[in-house]
Amino acid sequence: MAQTGECPLCGGTGWRSFDRDGIAVAERCGCAADERLRKIEERSNVPPLYLRASFDNFSTLPDNPVANRILTTAVTTARAYVREFLRGSTRQGLIFIGEPGTGKTHLAVAVLRSLIARFGCEGVFVDYQQLLERTRQSYDPASSSGDRGAFQTALSCEVLLLDDLGAQRYSDWVEDMVTQVVTHRCNNAKPLIATTNLRDPQAGDEPVPAGAAGDLMSRYYLSERIGMRARSRLFEMCRVISTRGAEDYRLRKRRSTATT
Ligand SMILES: Nc1ncnc2c1ncn2[C@@H]1O[C@H](COP(=O)(O)OP(=O)(O)O)[C@@H](O)[C@H]1O
Ligand SMILES: [Mg+2]
Ligand SMILES: [Zn+2]
Repeated sequence: MAQTGECPLCGGTGWRSFDRDGIAVAERCGCAADERLRKIEERSNVPPLYLRASFDNFSTLPDNPVANRILTTAVTTARAYVREFLRGSTRQGLIFIGEPGTGKTHLAVAVLRSLIARFGCEGVFVDYQQLLERTRQSYDPASSSGDRGAFQTALSCEVLLLDDLGAQRYSDWVEDMVTQVVTHRCNNAKPLIATTNLRDPQAGDEPVPAGAAGDLMSRYYLSERIGMRARSRLFEMCRVISTRGAEDYRLRKRRSTATT
């Protein structure tokens, strides 16, 4: 008898056999594809907060005209990218750039999840700081933790989502690591989807006026944190999606729960 959770059509073997004109034939069961997708999703490492992030549950904030225009362009560009990827007409990547809380990670995960669900593509979410930390520990003889597998995955997985790029103080070592990842992926035509709070002139960002409010991180230029080489390869291989000027969704939610 089939155990609970097993496919009732194939008993969990992934193959269905039936009789066609007196000849026994076997056919791949649909559940095998589902199982493969489930495993890819499991390995994708998307953090719990973003497991359900999709285009459908992303609001373009219709009550805020400025944010609405920015976010509508962002979603449209991200969706178009997924369509082109599925058609095979792009192997480029994406870089989401903008202030914290403007939905960059949400949209980047929505793209990654679409590529997994519709393309069966091996997409992996990697947190930039965690990647550097683990890699650093793996080179430290005094540390028993850390693994080089994380770095290897970042280099070679089919599609990489590198979240919060540049969120670590600059050092030669940091520059070397991130340049290796970006260059390797660029040279091997492996798409990279990145998000960053940092600024870049290529995304239309201007220097922050002296004395302006806002968090400290967002004042830096991307090149100041990851170096010129990685930065220029990145823009070579990625389409830019800017959420700069949209509303901070976290603050918005806090405000709306405070007033209800
Ligand atoms: N426009 C939006 N519609 C729905 N949820 C959003 C939107 N923008 C952000 N969020 C949610 O708010 C939280 C913060 O967004 P996030 O994507 O992490 O911002 P960022 O990466 O730009 O800092 C997440 O839980 C995300 O799902
Ligand atoms: Mg983010
Ligand atoms: Zn089955």
